[in-house]
Amino acid sequence: MEEIAYCDSRKDLPINELHKIFVLVGWSDGSETLQMLNNYNVPFINSTLVISAWKNKKLIGFVRVLSDKMFRSIIYDLAVHPEYQHYGIGSAMIQKCIEHFPNSEWLVETVDGIEGFYEKQSFKVIAKNGIVYLKIACKLFTKE
Ligand SMILES: CC(C)(COP(=O)(O)OP(=O)(O)OC[C@H]1O[C@@H](n2cnc3c(N)ncnc32)[C@H](O)[C@@H]1OP(=O)(O)O)[C@@H](O)C(=O)NCCC(=O)NCCS
Repeated sequence: MEEIAYCDSRKDLPINELHKIFVLVGWSDGSETLQMLNNYNVPFINSTLVISAWKNKKLIGFVRVLSDKMFRSIIYDLAVHPEYQHYGIGSAMIQKCIEHFPNSEWLVETVDGIEGFYEKQSFKVIAKNGIVYLKIACKLFTKE
């Protein structure tokens, strides 16, 4: 798919567009209080890194990372607008995260059925009990 712009410099993602994608991917039933809605992008603003994907200035995907920028990084809230899924946008955002802290360990928690996506990004399943945990090992601790 053409004309996708990726951004790594903006954390204050537009609340309405962010919330809309949370609803579309099934993470929200739309019943948040006004206080929650007004603060919907605060977890992004306070994250170490936010990658977002845009088409014609419309938000179509995002991911946020908490990281010490060296050894440990954790991925949260990766989502792509359903109309734009399966065009490589999710994997592009994950690869852009890893490029920022290339030696780091990467951890993610997901659900059964999504682990295949992360395995294609070189993550390995480390635990599975309904919830699936995957990681890429820290290169600084890995002996060749
Ligand atoms: C999971 C998600 C982010 C993937 O984004 P995407 O842009 O559709 O993924 P991509 O197009 O980059 O897919 C990359 C590869 O992973 C595969 N893939 C995508 N979703 C997958 C899934 N759920 N299970 C297994 N493989 C999957 C694709 O087939 C593709 O394989 P290919 O390279 O051989 O063609 C997206 O489907 C989504 O937003 N889902 C709802 C929210 C969610 O569950 N997020 C994960 C939270 S941990």
